Amino acid sequence: MKFRIPASSANLGPGFDCFGIAWQCYNEIEFIPREEGLEISGCEEKYCNEDNLAYKAYRAVMAWAGQRESGLEIRFGRTDIPVSRGMGSSAALIVGGVVAANAIHGLELSGSELLAIATSVEGHPDNIAPALFGGFTVSAMDGIAAITTHFPISEKLFFTLLIPDFELSTELARSVLPVNVSRQDAIFNISRSALLIKALERGDRQLMRIALEDKLHQPYRTKLINGYDSAEAAAKKLDAMGICISGAGSTLLCIADRPEFSAEMEKELKESLPGWKVLGVKPDLQGVKMI
Ligand code: HSE
Repeated sequence: MKFRIPASSANLGPGFDCFGIAWQCYNEIEFIPREEGLEISGCEEKYCNEDNLAYKAYRAVMAWAGQRESGLEIRFGRTDIPVSRGMGSSAALIVGGVVAANAIHGLELSGSELLAIATSVEGHPDNIAPALFGGFTVSAMDGIAAITTHFPISEKLFFTLLIPDFELSTELARSVLPVNVSRQDAIFNISRSALLIKALERGDRQLMRIALEDKLHQPYRTKLINGYDSAEAAAKKLDAMGICISGAGSTLLCIADRPEFSAEMEKELKESLPGWKVLGVKPDLQGVKMI
């Protein structure tokens, strides 16, 4: 069975570990049951073992459902989601693994169960929910369960990912964050994140300006992204509605109100950040799909 899983941007500024949007940019993974053993192909040698996240997620579903271990072949096909760039590549693997185990073994687990299992493998639901269900999702943990809901995205909005030529590990990007935050910073983020839901629904420029602000992670992480200042300056010059880090980085996400923005940004960054890739993306509203 073959699945197509979307990339995603988590956080979206203030919605740290909670918000995410799925993109029309995909990985394809095929899962083939076999008698015994594991075989993985189509990805780097270092991922062809039992630590592969797609396999871990597959096994997590089998354990949850009390199923006996069996053999598996995993073939990676088209891989458009770059690794360690904050575009949900690990969530895509995990979501592929959970839906494959569910389908291959006829387990009929619900979306919430798959979300809970996938989240337990990933650690937080913000990329998992959009990769599973598509769209703009807001998720919360309730014990081991993850609760997620969808909010609309205005068709007046145009999204552009600025993908640097270097990786940034989530582990490093989380290690620079303070463990505790002040009440002031918490209030700052609560207000912005609520406003962001409305800003995305309406495509409202005034709201978006303030709604993408964040005090919980971005001020600490922008220092890890060499070129952030130039990218932000270019986005401002081209009158973007806002810019934020996609997930833990290194990718940045620009939100604009015109379709030409991506091409203009590409031209702009060609000189200042020549190694960066500029990718105009549309939201994926479907989530993982069997193909
Ligand atoms: N919310 C996570 C973070 C996304 O920002 O660390 C990365 O997995």
